[in-house]
Amino acid sequence: MLGTIRVSGAKNAALPAMAAALLTDEPVTLENIPQVRDIETTRKLLAAMGAEVELGYGRAQHRTTICARNLTSPEASYELVKQMRASSLVLGPLLARCGRARVSLPGGCAIGARPIDLHIKGLEQLGAKITQDHGYVEATADRLKGGEISFEKITVTGTEDLLMAATLADGESVLHNCAREPEVADLAELLNKMGALIEGAGTPTIRVKGVGKLHGAKHRIIPDRIEAGTFIIAGALTGGDMNIAGCEPAHLDVLIAKLHEVGVKTAQSADTVRVMGDGPFKASDIITQEYPGFPTDMQAQYMALATQAEGTSVITENIFENRFMHVSELMRMGANIRIEGRRAIVRGKTPLSAAAVLASDLRASASLLLAALVAEGESIIDRVYHIDRGYEHIEEKLKGVGAQIRRIGEILPKKAAAPSRV
Ligand code: UD1
Repeated sequence: MLGTIRVSGAKNAALPAMAAALLTDEPVTLENIPQVRDIETTRKLLAAMGAEVELGYGRAQHRTTICARNLTSPEASYELVKQMRASSLVLGPLLARCGRARVSLPGGCAIGARPIDLHIKGLEQLGAKITQDHGYVEATADRLKGGEISFEKITVTGTEDLLMAATLADGESVLHNCAREPEVADLAELLNKMGALIEGAGTPTIRVKGVGKLHGAKHRIIPDRIEAGTFIIAGALTGGDMNIAGCEPAHLDVLIAKLHEVGVKTAQSADTVRVMGDGPFKASDIITQEYPGFPTDMQAQYMALATQAEGTSVITENIFENRFMHVSELMRMGANIRIEGRRAIVRGKTPLSAAAVLASDLRASASLLLAALVAEGESIIDRVYHIDRGYEHIEEKLKGVGAQIRRIGEILPKKAAAPSRV
């Protein structure tokens, strides 16, 4: 594949940013919002609470303005939460702003149990009263009180949820053992623009001085490092020469260092990574870890590359207990992989042959797509709606650099035809 492919805004930064708009009665304008299904789900979620959500169209299609002036119903229904687990991000902001929140418990998903107990414990430490009934979390608090929270385990959305709640609490909060993901730092930047007083986001300890009120702001979402990483691997696998433009190379350091070990050549400028994948590739182990470690969200895509590397790659998944759903599908395409608990042992290089495969979750679908790009013949990937949750118009982007790919099933509306105010 040859040419330039542009990275969209980070879904995982856009979701908490949209939830943050619940913290103020003034409009919050977000730019570089990716057009993916999880954003549409969040729009429905916020609209159901009474927020006005204006999605851009035409040239402004990546902008959204949210005004949560009238929050008539501080609730997140099971109907929406089951479509997107990150819906639990509204718990903290709703509680801080409205003094109450009713949010459905998400339940497990394809990659693991994924409880939200740490969100709940943290909010209780800020003085919330929380009960669980009929599959819902009910939280109330007159006004949250600043406190000291130490996360037992590092959680990305848990850190974000608590960070948002703490902005409107009475007094100072100190959050320990926080997630250091760039998406957390991006959220803090938005919150500070809204008048919050946050220090230390992006480090393990975040200090928040609570304020009485937040105001509107305008903010540009950071580029999607997982989408960028997926395209870098696509370029490497296909022996291409591709520019991945509009990304933040600093957020890709660990991935790029690993790819160098594998034998992938890259060059970087301020916002572009050039990938030259002329191989041969050699096997190299990875262990997924919290940022700045190797991201779990790149594990499945890396595995597709590992099938094309000479030798044995041991892939250890540390974050989620069941994130190897792509393995059996890759094996159906000819990969030699054995699972031992949390480790997948990939022996390469094996030629891949096209097959009809089933996507099980967002990043697994990306892995199957990457494998299909180098497999002999025409592959069909079913349940492609998983990929639409987090990749914007992926088939068009890949077609633009030479992939032969077309969508034959359901298709998302390409662009909003007219402004929609809900
Ligand atoms: C976020 C990302 C997701 C990524 C993941 C790990 C978003 C919207 N999603 O998900 O793409 O794969 O980080 O980088 O940003 N846990 C608990 N109790 C809790 C919360 C988490 O036990 O209350 C566990 C989880 O089950 C998991 C681990 O902690 O094993 C990390 O999960 P977490 O960082 O919370 O993932 P998400 O924020 O859901």
